[in-house]
Amino acid sequence: MTILVTGGAGFIGSNFILEWLASSNEAVINLDAMTYAGNMDNLQSLAGDFRHIFVNGNIGDFDLVADLLSRHKPRAIVNFAAESHVDRSIRGPEDFIQANVVGTFRLLEAARAYRAGQDRDAAAPFSFLHISTDEVYGTLAADAPAFTESNRYEPNSPYSASKAASDHLVRAYHHTYGLPVLTTNCSNNYGPRQFPEKLIPLCIHNALAGKPLPVYGDGRQVRDWLYVNDHCSAIRCVLERGRHGEIYNIGGWNEKTNLEVVHTLCRILDQLQPRPDGRSYGDQIVFVRDRPGHDRRYAIDATKVQRELGWSPAETFETGIRKTVEWYLDNQAWVVNVTSGAYRSWVERQYGI
Ligand code: NAD
Ligand code: DAU
Repeated sequence: MTILVTGGAGFIGSNFILEWLASSNEAVINLDAMTYAGNMDNLQSLAGDFRHIFVNGNIGDFDLVADLLSRHKPRAIVNFAAESHVDRSIRGPEDFIQANVVGTFRLLEAARAYRAGQDRDAAAPFSFLHISTDEVYGTLAADAPAFTESNRYEPNSPYSASKAASDHLVRAYHHTYGLPVLTTNCSNNYGPRQFPEKLIPLCIHNALAGKPLPVYGDGRQVRDWLYVNDHCSAIRCVLERGRHGEIYNIGGWNEKTNLEVVHTLCRILDQLQPRPDGRSYGDQIVFVRDRPGHDRRYAIDATKVQRELGWSPAETFETGIRKTVEWYLDNQAWVVNVTSGAYRSWVERQYGI
């Protein structure tokens, strides 16, 4: 048996593949277009492992995907591939439409053609698992209940709109063509191997480099944080036990304001790697211009995946965030590699630093 993972050189995809192959001998075909976010260093420990078949290519390349499906006959596609950073979607939405909307559409088309061929063998198992985000539901008032699977889609950024469009396509391919799909909508992930454009790794990197820790607006926006390995375990649950056509919200019941997150990081860094001048990393926090259209609060109600599939997170925010800081401290070479070259021009454009 084999699975096809897309976007497996990125943050969540690489953690998923590493965990998958640590606990199973089922091979993984990893299709990744190697954008700025794709990083083979993430998968270094799999070098020479015949169970990991890496293919440098785009999910929007129908012929390539059709060929991979017919040659390897995977029992599932797990679709992580996407442009994933909200700030980049605000500066340049086009890439998000191409990767997230057109790319998912072509991947679905290839899966539909594959499945039609597979129908000759009716018992052949197949699932198309689409990895999506809580951001498709829009923003929550401070006292509103957390997002359930029946919340309306109200995306507010080009990123979330492109993910919402891809979710709708996935839904339509189930409804119209009977494609056996599963969709997960997860909250903010954090953990090892996250590209330092996102809040947590950016702040760890900047803190150690003596640079400002940029907090957008008043820093009181709320995100619901989930350790990446917990997201990966939820995806495995959904893949094994989820019901086709269903949506599963995944979250860690860990609502925090951005300021709380940044102060927690500073506190852990103060303990693990104190500043040479004896002051706190908290002194490096600066408030900067807010993100346009910044969603105020996200929160996931993960009752369905817990009740129906028996999933629950293993980490609390406190244990997960400490592990994350420790990983970045222990893997400075990884950070140096990803923060050279193109990363610098992004930081200059976005923050002027
Ligand atoms: P990431 O940006 O770290 O990685 C994305 C990967 O996809 C990269 O390796 C990139 O090279 C690849 N890719 C991009 N476009 C591609 C294309 N057209 N064809 C093939 N590969 C392509 O992203 P991430 O944070 O790991 O997120 C993975 C998925 O999970 C995304 O779909 C994202 O929307 C979703 N998600 C992320 C979070 C989060 O907090 N990071 C939360 C919920 C859902
Ligand atoms: O909610 C799930 C989503 O979480 C995923 O779908 C996205 O792929 C992922 O990038 C993430 O989106 P966010 O926009 O919430 O993540 P980010 O790390 O960019 O920002 C987290 C919060 O921190 C957000 O409120 C914006 C704020 N922020 C971010 C950066 C990069 C800052 O205050 N300063 C910063 O420099």
